[in-house]
Amino acid sequence: MCGIVAYVGNKDVQPLLLEGLKRLEYRGYDSAGVCIQAGGHFFIKKTAGRISVLEAALDQQPKSKRGQVGMAHTRWATHGAPTEVNAHPHTDDKGGIAVVHNGIIENYASLKQFLTAKGHQFVSQTDTEVLAMLIGHFYQGDIAKAVQMALREVRGTYGLAVMCTAESDTLIVARRGSPLIIGVGKEEYVVASDASAIVEHTTQVIYLNDCEMAVIRPGGFKTMTTDDVPVTKEITAVEFSIQQIELGQYKHFMLKEIFEQPEAISNALRGRVDLQEGRVVLGGIGPYSRDIVRARRLIITGCGTAWHAGLVGEFLFEELAKIPTEVEYASEFRYRNPIIEDGTIVLAISQSGETADTLAALREAKDRGALSLGIVNGVGSTIARETDAGIYLHVGPEIGVASTKAFTGQIIVETLLALSIARRKYMSQAVLNEFLLAIMKLPEQMRHVLEQSEAVRQTACQYIHRENWLFLGRGFNYPVALEGALKLKEISYIHAEGLPAAEMKHGPIALINPGMPAVFVATRGSQYEKLLGNIQEVKARGGKIIAVASEGDDHIHGVADHVFTVPETIEPLQPLLTVLPLQLLAYHAAVARGCNVDKPRNLAKSVTVE
Ligand code: G6P
Repeated sequence: MCGIVAYVGNKDVQPLLLEGLKRLEYRGYDSAGVCIQAGGHFFIKKTAGRISVLEAALDQQPKSKRGQVGMAHTRWATHGAPTEVNAHPHTDDKGGIAVVHNGIIENYASLKQFLTAKGHQFVSQTDTEVLAMLIGHFYQGDIAKAVQMALREVRGTYGLAVMCTAESDTLIVARRGSPLIIGVGKEEYVVASDASAIVEHTTQVIYLNDCEMAVIRPGGFKTMTTDDVPVTKEITAVEFSIQQIELGQYKHFMLKEIFEQPEAISNALRGRVDLQEGRVVLGGIGPYSRDIVRARRLIITGCGTAWHAGLVGEFLFEELAKIPTEVEYASEFRYRNPIIEDGTIVLAISQSGETADTLAALREAKDRGALSLGIVNGVGSTIARETDAGIYLHVGPEIGVASTKAFTGQIIVETLLALSIARRKYMSQAVLNEFLLAIMKLPEQMRHVLEQSEAVRQTACQYIHRENWLFLGRGFNYPVALEGALKLKEISYIHAEGLPAAEMKHGPIALINPGMPAVFVATRGSQYEKLLGNIQEVKARGGKIIAVASEGDDHIHGVADHVFTVPETIEPLQPLLTVLPLQLLAYHAAVARGCNVDKPRNLAKSVTVE
């Protein structure tokens, strides 16, 4: 979604801003712009489309316009089409104040009416221009004060950066509901909405909290609340390095991240499984472990892939930890007047830790007295900071818009949490040991599954012209079917439906026609025989069967048209293996259809608006 990068320091700012924007490209956007101080006025360039278009436009400008304070933005359209005029930065009508903004100003219409009545003239359809105009309206020689006055009038969310021609060495940044990080380097500051645009310059960062702002100048910076109460912020180290956010030998981030999963899972497990003692060690939830073990009800919430991981979690927490569990779309939960009783725990799952709906659901649950836990990848992210306790995934930054390694990371962490509760409730040491041994085998087993990538590619290529696919599974593999369908939709734009296999006969079976691909997650387990029945129902209607099956299952080869295999493991761990061929299937289908795998149309990596 929208991205901000801003700089104060003595380096050449224009290439630095463009580099930063490219680091944010993966989040999804449709237009971009820069604003640089240039001797008493702004140099602003905005373009619709990719950053390469902006770069080309900038290359045609005389170099003398480059300065040392600047900001840039990638926009993901909300108010107004993705045009050059609507791209950020926006200025007030005198042209002395410029703003880049992530988030949504909810009361922009009434503010616009007020400002129009005062004679201000607007050129765009955006809510951000209203903000720029409002700051300009209040400006009387102190940009920090004007920003504070404007923010007092604003309802909604923002991460924003503001520049002023009359205070050319100053950058103002502020946040409410949309992340903003200040990288503190040697006599330079790089502000961004995402750490990936900062790590190239420094690993020392400050995370702004909601309703906080900073006034940054070459000689130093001050932090305060938006009501002007000074706050002292701690400088912390960002966890990831520049290598982790570069492609290396891979053609796409998604492919890199699919293949990184064995290592990512090892990292998620590191220090958390004590095989000798037969224990699960989860430091992050230590102080709350008694409450967690005694929980009477668990509500898991998240969006997209994280919600699918939550569905796997429902099976894990009920089956292993014996806690009644529900999984809620965060966007629904937040508005549903949810019932939170004593002993209810809310578990928010999020790769980024910044998804607006998940954050709002979490806050709603906390307000109603639930103990809140997080399973989050983004270290220092808002959800990680606002939950009472949590467990990080430690799978490294995920750049591909289609989530892959975060999904398996979320499931492995849920498994560890469920096992640690189970052992304290009823699970015998022998059963736990069996689980732990099986878990430690997973990275190697994942590597083995991924060796089938070429075979998956060949199968995918046979079906890329079919515009409708079905993904079916039962039990633990039903959420995997949903995730397989989502992956295919997201990046190849093929319509796919994921279902619990038995539901097919209640409607979707009507869709099956000769040649339609149906992907079955058909590993041996408690519902295997039933699933074979569902496969026959599709075959009888001419559908083509692509099966993900257990190694050594000879029967399935006689039934399915294409088979990918996964090694045997304990049933609750199967999703960690069965999802891999489905990720590869989506990836290869998208590449074969010529789609932009890492930046699919209309999608954003981190959805920070409602
Ligand atoms: C967006 C992304 C999805 C992701 C979802 C939740 O829709 O495109 O890939 O699963 O947000 O994101 P989160 O960061 O909360 O896991």
